[in-house]
Formats: sequence, structure tokens, C-alpha cells
Amino acid sequence: MPKAKPEAPETYLVCTPIRLDENNTYYVVGYEPRAEMETAHHMLLFGCKEPGIKESIFSCGEMENGLTGTKNASPCKNGQKILYAWAKNAPRLDLPEGVGFKVGGKDSDVNYLVLQVHYASVDNIPEDGDTSGVVLKYTNEPQPRSAGVYFVGTRGMIPARSTTNMEAACEIKENKELHPFAFRTHTHALGRVVSGWKVSPSMEWSLIGKKDPQLPQMFYPVEDKSMVIRKGDTIAARCTMVSYRDRITWVGATAEDEMCNFYMMYWVEGDILNGEWCTSLGPPVYTWDRFLVGGGLRNIPDEEASSLA
Ligand code: CU
Ligand code: CU
Repeated sequence: MPKAKPEAPETYLVCTPIRLDENNTYYVVGYEPRAEMETAHHMLLFGCKEPGIKESIFSCGEMENGLTGTKNASPCKNGQKILYAWAKNAPRLDLPEGVGFKVGGKDSDVNYLVLQVHYASVDNIPEDGDTSGVVLKYTNEPQPRSAGVYFVGTRGMIPARSTTNMEAACEIKENKELHPFAFRTHTHALGRVVSGWKVSPSMEWSLIGKKDPQLPQMFYPVEDKSMVIRKGDTIAARCTMVSYRDRITWVGATAEDEMCNFYMMYWVEGDILNGEWCTSLGPPVYTWDRFLVGGGLRNIPDEEASSLA
């Protein structure tokens, strides 16, 4: 952060973009957070084709109030993808040996890095501003393996006073072998469990990871390090949401709305997938087991997918 000066707690998501060299490709092999828990609630590092606003600092978020004197936009104008997430006690993240996130240059989709900081408290910010951030460990040397983040999300709605499963499932159609090594979940206040699964063509389910989304929303290691996801396999995600509200909650960007997101960080020999995201219509239309408007999945581990045990 270029000495950000948020004035009130809880209200700010602040972004700062960095333009990458068009003539040089970089391989990011590690992320080292530099933030104070008392000041920053979370930090996300995005890769963008274009940043939300080309100014050194701007407001960027799911919150109504922005930083005084700045415009508000989403972190990226287009090509938004998450490269790293920090929250609370998240340690540094070193990618597996020989794995790098390809950024910059002409043949990566990432022309800008955008750092987003959510300020939790402003009491400890020095007089001349906050400099929270992430130190990138990178090299110019091409890495044999590439890292990517596959995003699964839903749209849809959660009825009043209900427990609702929001589900999505995406078949991998590219001829690549994905090795998942970390995952992240994201919901707002109603999320209780988010689980992500690999489903084979013969409907065999293996857990990529599950988490209580009310815990710090960082990347956690996957359970089974030997998992490989191939063409024809499906990545399935479910968010179990509990609402005591008297109103319907829709998927949307503000704290009044909800989200159901599952991120899978993976490595692959050579280049990452061309399509790195998929979303479903969500409830009440889409479910894992329905055909046509659903995932057409069988053998669903219903209980395990909605419990933390
Ligand atoms: Cu936060
Ligand atoms: Cu959200």
C-alpha cells in the first residue's frame, strides 16, 4: 500500500495496482505477507488484464463506504483472478518446487497485479500511512510447471429461515493433469460449510477440501497431495447456508447478499487451463443431482459435503 490513510474501521476495502512489464514474463514462486493483524483484516492479491481504476489507490469493494477522495471500482476491470489470499495468521506461501504463477509479458493474461486490503482497525496506522502488502518471490527463469486458480461459484437465492445447499459442478474438458495443492472458500455471514470435490466419470467422489467459511478465508493445503484431476473429471462445490433471516438472501456483492465460492489452487506441467472458472445458476434451479439444469451427478456424499467432520 502506498501509505494508505483509512480513517474509520470496518468500512474500507482499498486497492492499489502495479503495472507489469509487457516485455518480461515473471514467475511468482512465493508470497510473503507483510501486514499487521490489528490493522488488516484480509488481503487479496489479484491478477488483472486491466485494473478497476488506473490510480495508485482506489476503493474496491463489497462495502458501501469508500476511502475519502477516491473512486470505487472492482479490483479488476477485466480478467480478474485471485493469486493469493492472506487473513489473520496466514503464513507465507511457497509454491511447490518448479511451480510458478506466470505474470506479465505478452503471453500471460496478467498485465497488472492489484492488492486489496480490508482495514479492520485504524488505531495502529502510522501518521504517514499504512504500507501493508505482500512481498513476491519471483524469477525470470521459466518454470516447468504453472500454477493456476480454478474458481467455482454459484448464483441463486437462499429462502428465509432455511438451510440451503448452493451447488456447482464443472467438468474439466482440457487434456491436462491438474494437481490441486491449496483451496480457499468464500461466503458472507450465512455460510456454515464449503466443500470441494473431484468427481470421476464413474461418480467416485474425493474431497479436495472443506472449511468453515467463517474461519480466516486464506488458502489452506489440500488433504490429498497425490490427487490428480484429468479431462472428464468434474470439480464440484457446495456451500451449506443457514439463514434465520425473515427475507430472501440473493447472491450479490454487498454484506447484505451472499456468495458461494470455492477456489482451487493447482499446478500443471506446461501451461494452465484456458478456462479457469465456472458458475452455476444455484438454488432453487440448479442442484448437483438434477439433469439438464443440474450437474447430473450420482453417489453424492450428502452428509460429508455439509458437515465439517
Ligand atoms: Cu476482511
Ligand atoms: Cu463476497
